[in-house]
Amino acid sequence: AVIVIAIDGPSAAGKGTLARRLAAHFGLPHLDTGLLYRAVGLKAEKTGRPPEEVAAGLDPADLADPELRTDVAGQAASKVAAMPEVRAKLLDFQKKFALQAAGAVLDGRDVGTVICPEAPVKLFVTASAEARAERRYRELRAKGVDTIKPRVLAEMAERDRRDSERAAAPLKAAPDAYHLDTSDMDADAAFAAALAFIER
Ligand code: CDP
Repeated sequence: AVIVIAIDGPSAAGKGTLARRLAAHFGLPHLDTGLLYRAVGLKAEKTGRPPEEVAAGLDPADLADPELRTDVAGQAASKVAAMPEVRAKLLDFQKKFALQAAGAVLDGRDVGTVICPEAPVKLFVTASAEARAERRYRELRAKGVDTIKPRVLAEMAERDRRDSERAAAPLKAAPDAYHLDTSDMDADAAFAAALAFIER
């Protein structure tokens, strides 16, 4: 059966890891939609071209840039993500990905509300600000980035505020989304909880 799994939530809540594990489990393709916004934000900043123009001409090579994982790219992403023209340009690609024959797993901020409101499985993944900042901090340190926790917490809070207060597709749960708070869960526990919901 075709299965589309939409996973939304704030930064560092565990969406990406969960999405990859569910995709592997069900043998589905996975799209990290945040990468699209990161690629647009970074390329617009580097080239000085208008973000909506960059979004319209985005090509697969842009998604392979290792710099996309940095916090600079995250902040740039959240700025261009507030522009309705940019979101509109990226909509088609995401819809097509969601509706491919085999099914798909997509994670982001508006997958269950805008990209694929008809997805039979919607997960809204959250965690406390402290738990999320702790995870992001560890990720950054593991990558050799020199930072301190209060700074990670502050940058995350700024991005979350921008993402939930913007007029265009603000971060929110779809009415029929299953809420998964991963504050006290490791990746295995979150995967088990999501699987139990999907196979209910
Ligand atoms: O990994 P993390 O959750 O920190 O970031 P991300 O998922 O890569 O998203 C980066 C930024 O892109 C977010 O802060 C949002 O502003 C934006 N975004 C969005 O607006 N809509 C999406 N579907 C995905 C990301």
